[in-house]
Amino acid sequence: MSLHQRRILIGVTGGIAAYKICELVRRLRDLQAEVRVVMTEGATHFVTPTTFQALSGQPVRVSLWDEQGEAAMGHIELARWAERVLIAPASADTLARLAHGHADDLLTTVVLATAAPVYVAPAMNQQMWAHLAVQANIGTLRVRGVEVLGPADGDQACGDIGSGRMLEPHELRDILVASFGEQPLRGRRVVVSAGPTYEDIDPVRFIGNRSSGRMGFAVAAAARDAGADVTLVAGPVAMTTPTGVRRVDVRSARQMHDAVLDAADSADIYIGAAAVGDYRPAELAGHKLKKTAGSPLRLELTENPDIIAALAARPVHPFLVGFAAETRDVAGYAQDKLRRKGLDMIAANDVGAGKGFEVADNALHLYWRDGDIALARTAKTELARHLIAHVARHFLAGHGSTP
Ligand code: PMT
Repeated sequence: MSLHQRRILIGVTGGIAAYKICELVRRLRDLQAEVRVVMTEGATHFVTPTTFQALSGQPVRVSLWDEQGEAAMGHIELARWAERVLIAPASADTLARLAHGHADDLLTTVVLATAAPVYVAPAMNQQMWAHLAVQANIGTLRVRGVEVLGPADGDQACGDIGSGRMLEPHELRDILVASFGEQPLRGRRVVVSAGPTYEDIDPVRFIGNRSSGRMGFAVAAAARDAGADVTLVAGPVAMTTPTGVRRVDVRSARQMHDAVLDAADSADIYIGAAAVGDYRPAELAGHKLKKTAGSPLRLELTENPDIIAALAARPVHPFLVGFAAETRDVAGYAQDKLRRKGLDMIAANDVGAGKGFEVADNALHLYWRDGDIALARTAKTELARHLIAHVARHFLAGHGSTP
């Protein structure tokens, strides 16, 4: 991968994670990107402008009132020069000032004056991150099209544990690299479901399946890399949320139904990679069922709502991509589901022994009304990229290329 001659402006604000941006600048320069750094006054208390000047090979700007700087590359030229603006670490204060449209320092002025996509990578104490004021500011920025990267969970410099850690330099670099790739779904909203559902029998037992969430999480990450705004509705899985993806956790098929239908209200595309339980116990026992020696236990099951079919039944609905997990006659069952559920496309996978579920790789066969294509076995992350490329092509063919 190369970022040859790509122009990235990094805004560094006052937070201890500022030291990690030295590494990011190095990594971007390794990829031949042109990097310019703008620092807030607060940031200079953590890392000196000289450090960033040495690493970027460019003068570092701090003040709006820097006569020399304004004579060389003024704030408007800087804003026009940038192809991407990344603010990292983004402090609570800077997020507030961006949300309110301030222009009282160089960084906020450049953000108002740029037409480039703006990314923010928040970094702060977990209590601060959870504060309603910060969340309201983040919400405002999101609505305006600012991409919020992270934050991640984990140990914090202040000793707390929780959400508020800035993403690592390599993660920020990967997001910038992906942003320069082809982004056919930029400005589109995609909802992905992933993982299994658990249908409770009693307080300690449930009916579930072997879905790990790997396929669906890879699809969500690939849709994000294609530029989409992604909501991932996840059943009970032990998976890390892909950076930049909004996640809604659910347990049962009925919860997934409600979460998907809610998220799909404003979605352009829905991709159902979840292995949704078709049935649930007709009654949920309030207490642990006791064994009665010598007699069988009979469970009565009742049908769960079909999520993707419910979406298809709406007069206006997103482009619908289902998955079909089959152990025999994969093509026949998949094509039947495509028609019966009213889908635009279906991704069929053979889930016979050791295949499809849980493992790191997979193969898919895509079917749509008048065509099909086989996607060869490869890592689910790679396969998801191929799937998204096909979905984007079919979706755009039917919906035009502008959001
Ligand atoms: O999670 P992994 O371990 O990585 O495994 C990936 C996978 C095998 C789970 C995935 O690739 C896959 O095939 N997911 C769909 C599994 C499935 O439930 O298929 P199905 O043939 O039963 O359902 C067909 C479609 O209808 C699916 O899009 C499903 O999400 C949807 N469905 C099914 C039942 C239901 N009540 N509501 C639904 O929306």
